Amino acid sequence: KIVPVFLAGGSGTRLWPLSRDQYPKQFLKLLGDKTLLQDTALRAQGLDGVEPPIALCGDKHRFIVAEQLLEIGLGGATIILEPEGRNTAPAAAVAAHFVAEKYGADALLLLMPADQVIRDVVRFKDAVRAATKVAADGKIVTFGIVPTRPEIGFGYMQAGNSLEGGAFVIDRFVEKPNAETAQAYINAGAYFWNGGMFMFKASSFLEEMKEFEPATFDASAESVTRSRRDLDFVRLDPDSFRRTRAESIDYAVMEKTRKAAMIPLDAGWDDVGSWQFLEHLTKDSAGNVCRGDVLLESASNNLVHAESRLVTLAGVDNHIVIETQDAVLVTTRDRVQDVKKIVAQLGALK
Ligand code: GDD
Ligand code: MG
Repeated sequence: KIVPVFLAGGSGTRLWPLSRDQYPKQFLKLLGDKTLLQDTALRAQGLDGVEPPIALCGDKHRFIVAEQLLEIGLGGATIILEPEGRNTAPAAAVAAHFVAEKYGADALLLLMPADQVIRDVVRFKDAVRAATKVAADGKIVTFGIVPTRPEIGFGYMQAGNSLEGGAFVIDRFVEKPNAETAQAYINAGAYFWNGGMFMFKASSFLEEMKEFEPATFDASAESVTRSRRDLDFVRLDPDSFRRTRAESIDYAVMEKTRKAAMIPLDAGWDDVGSWQFLEHLTKDSAGNVCRGDVLLESASNNLVHAESRLVTLAGVDNHIVIETQDAVLVTTRDRVQDVKKIVAQLGALK
């Protein structure tokens, strides 16, 4: 059995001012007529032999998630609510305990972040099919992407010996290296980006959690056994869940485990993490990407998003201008990562 699990509890700060506290990026239609969460869910629905999916999100986003899944015919999904965000390791542990209880410890989870683009669905399906066998064998399978830039927001994996079924052993997993290290990995070759999706048997993952994060292992188990149904939602027990350690699955498990394996994925993958994602949209002849009511004069390679009024640029290159009702962001292409710092200064106002 394969249970798709959507991680939809992130905050998406680098896509401010479109991505907001109450309405983070995964719930926005950034690339087409479906939201990123809906794209993710539809990708999962296209896989062979999957059980109804599970979505994990913050309590305050429960109705958004329910409505967006219902809209694409997934009213039967289980929605598990976290009383507060504790990053992805506790969320994954909760999902693994939940699935083990419902389907047995050998059931497979396909963990899917809700903030990605994958253009080639056929290749994605092939990769998941290959990963299924490797995961059933007890491995924690990641999907490896050939890096195209020294991105510091990703995990890097060094591929070692090949395993059966097209997989590779991972000799080294390094989450979010600095720019210099990332460049060195790219120069070295044999390094892949971690695609952020994971496939494993509930038992394989829980064994690693028990070893590396014993407190989170116990607390997450308890948060599930003491959870309660509220309408269609599963509310984790807040006291137990708060005893988990806030950490990502990458640092908590992937950098340490010896069970890691990788299936290469060449399917037009990207993480919709910063304004850079607008690169995926169609450009005009001067390299500009414009959305909404935008007028340009002698301007090239800009990304301009106008939501509620006319936005014009003259004699400006390589800029990013995001206009919304109550906030406007102006930055340059090489400073997209700085948006996070703005949001940090805004604090509660975001
Ligand atoms: N339920 C839940 N709870 N989901 C969460 C939480 C949480 O507390 N925190 C984050 N998420 C969700 C996000 O919404 C996103 O869909 C996914 O988990 C991954 O979190 P990110 O915060 O976006 O991680 P990242 O992009 O910095 O890094 C991860 O993904 C990269 C590829 O996209 C890592 O796995 C990297 O190694 C990887 O390269
Ligand atoms: Mg991400």
